[in-house]
Amino acid sequence: MFIASLLGNLHPAIVHLPIGILLLAGLLEWMMIFRRFRSHAPLIPLITAIGALAAILACITGLTLEATGDYNGEAVDRHKWAGLSTALIASVYFVVRRKGGHFERYPNRARWGSLLMLASVTITGHWGGDLTHGYGFLWKGVISAGSNVTGDASAEFRPVADVMQARAWPDLVSQVMQAKCVSCHGPSKQKGGLRLDDPEHMLKGGKNGRVISPGYADQSEIFKRIMLPPEDEYHMPPEDKPQLSSQDRILIEWWIANGADLKRKVSEIGIDDSTLAVLKSYEAGQQGVAQVESAPIIPVDPVAKADPAVIESIRNQGVVILPVDPSNGYLTANFVNAQRPSDSLLKLLEPLADQLIWLKLSGSDLTDAGCETIARLKRLTRLQIDHTRITDAGLKSLLSLDQLQKLNLSGDSVSVQGLKQLVVLKALRSLNLWQTRVGQAELADLIRSLPSVRIDTGGYQLPFLPSDTMIVKDTRKK
Ligand code: HEC
Repeated sequence: MFIASLLGNLHPAIVHLPIGILLLAGLLEWMMIFRRFRSHAPLIPLITAIGALAAILACITGLTLEATGDYNGEAVDRHKWAGLSTALIASVYFVVRRKGGHFERYPNRARWGSLLMLASVTITGHWGGDLTHGYGFLWKGVISAGSNVTGDASAEFRPVADVMQARAWPDLVSQVMQAKCVSCHGPSKQKGGLRLDDPEHMLKGGKNGRVISPGYADQSEIFKRIMLPPEDEYHMPPEDKPQLSSQDRILIEWWIANGADLKRKVSEIGIDDSTLAVLKSYEAGQQGVAQVESAPIIPVDPVAKADPAVIESIRNQGVVILPVDPSNGYLTANFVNAQRPSDSLLKLLEPLADQLIWLKLSGSDLTDAGCETIARLKRLTRLQIDHTRITDAGLKSLLSLDQLQKLNLSGDSVSVQGLKQLVVLKALRSLNLWQTRVGQAELADLIRSLPSVRIDTGGYQLPFLPSDTMIVKDTRKK
């Protein structure tokens, strides 16, 4: 089992070997047009042989990967048959080409033979690329320069003109799933045996049965999973993938609770004011909200390296200072092991104000007074001050951090009134409010006040008792 999964995982790396080697063989074949390269002709069968072996190895690892069961569907089949054909064509080409005399007499046949092989390699590679990078990934960057050509086939979210007139499934829920779920639960991959790209498959469920109980969000596997804490192994989407926004979660809950309707418009299904206010973020002009991914969180402009002596003296106090990336001067500071009260230690960081972009004081004894010092670290893009002693007054000092993109206030005694001030932080994209006292009604209000911020409240409604994970596991058995 372990060997099989290792072999399968090697496939995406191994496929580059036959591509490179067979391309070389084809190139050599065409170089034979020129007399002075002809002395290299004997190399062609040898290189083709190595290429054919590599192609066979790619087929073996590919078939192993398919056997894991996570890859299915037409796109996989066509890539598979193209791959097997490539291995076959390369092998035949080798066998025939080895009998050199024939080819010396009919050089054109050799050339066309190599061209067929090259075409097969190219098609296989292209279809394989579609599988890992999403359909048409090759052209994405060409057609719309600057669009994301990252691993996920996440579709762009098309905003709606008027939420009330939008159809709940095709215009809203399905779009969210296309963007955040279908890369793993779609036509080419079905993790957990689940497809979320069309209603029929979705309603059938995954390998553990139904994932939606219309009318009952909190009994639906989909909703339970998106509400689990990100670090829970059953949380969806997996922790390292683009996450749902709070708006997305509220949308899915409302949709399931109201019967998981596939055809009707929001106005026909019925919606209360506070939910409607949240879903307004999917409207044109408002959008971006649900889908915001942070701007680069490491500034692009170069910065002078900080004085090593200063860093050393701070490290001696137990503050962990690390480069964000060895190639630039930017730094992170982490107070996990800090030995003195944070408020006074923070003052030591002031000489690093140019370099410090990430600061973590989670669970420390930071107070509102310390926030005044933090406010002088103007370049911070990410600030974790969760589970500290700060209050709304501390938040007020932070309003000058105009580069700040991510702020974690989980477990802090902050109120909606205090949080609303954050609207002046124009760069802010992500706000974590786990275990704060912000209630559901207040949350809707806050989302309206901070339209461009992705607010994460984890369980904005369900308290996360340890038993939640158990419930998920229980339903899996049926
Ligand atoms: C990066 C890949 C990935 C993404 C993206 C992803 N999932 Fe999953 N999902 C998995 C894997 C792997 C499993 C199977 C392992 C497990 O049960 O946790 C799974 C299982 C599930 C199951 C359980 C199916 C069953 O019957 O056991 C549900 C429900 C689910 N995912 C919902 C979602 C939703 C909703 C989204 C989008 C918001 C999503 N997933 C996004 C990888 C992913």
